[in-house]
Amino acid sequence: MASDDGLRVFGFAGSLRRGSLNKALLAAAQGLTPAGMTIEVFDLAGVPLYDDDLRQAGLPEAVTALRAGIAAADAVLIATPEYNFSFSGVVKNAVDWASRPPDQPFAGKPIAILGASPSRLGTARAQYQLRQCFIYLDGRVMNRPEMMLGDARQAFDEAGRLTEPKAREHLAGFLAALADFARESGRA
Ligand SMILES: Cc1cc2nc3c(=O)[nH]c(=O)nc-3n(C[C@H](O)[C@H](O)[C@H](O)COP(=O)(O)O)c2cc1C
Repeated sequence: MASDDGLRVFGFAGSLRRGSLNKALLAAAQGLTPAGMTIEVFDLAGVPLYDDDLRQAGLPEAVTALRAGIAAADAVLIATPEYNFSFSGVVKNAVDWASRPPDQPFAGKPIAILGASPSRLGTARAQYQLRQCFIYLDGRVMNRPEMMLGDARQAFDEAGRLTEPKAREHLAGFLAALADFARESGRA
């Protein structure tokens, strides 16, 4: 876990579509890490809808991989879209699968939430609701800084690269703060 080999961050985005702003934000994060941090991005496309019958029959492979990735990481990075003033069902589904006993992997885990939206508030409402899940799950969600990228379509180029300089600078600072937060939480 903690790391002679650096700080390992496990990231996922709560959108399945190819052109997702939130996937693009995670991809940008991979290129803006502070020294020693690496971000593995996990694709939630293979995670089925939560079904307790499936769980009891044996966890689906993608769920096992999701849980193992969270458990092994020094920190978790969640990029959530905002749907109807909340976080997406894709995020909730992933959190629900990962949360089932035994050994639910969010307990004590440093977590950072970020998000991008074409509207002005940049997923603020979604992020605050997602934080609430981690009260019960005893995750350690970083309070500040926040990364809520509003008017997000203008921040990316046609290839999905984050090009807006202030957004890039803010994301780099956000990741540096996550590195400090994870280390202070005793994970690295
Ligand atoms: C069902 C649905 C509800 C949405 N509700 C909101 C909302 O409450 N606030 C918001 O800022 N954007 C909302 N949007 C727009 C999304 O922010 C936008 O589609 C965004 O690009 C989704 O994230 P993605 O690009 O990562 O897929 C909604 C989109 C959908 C499909």
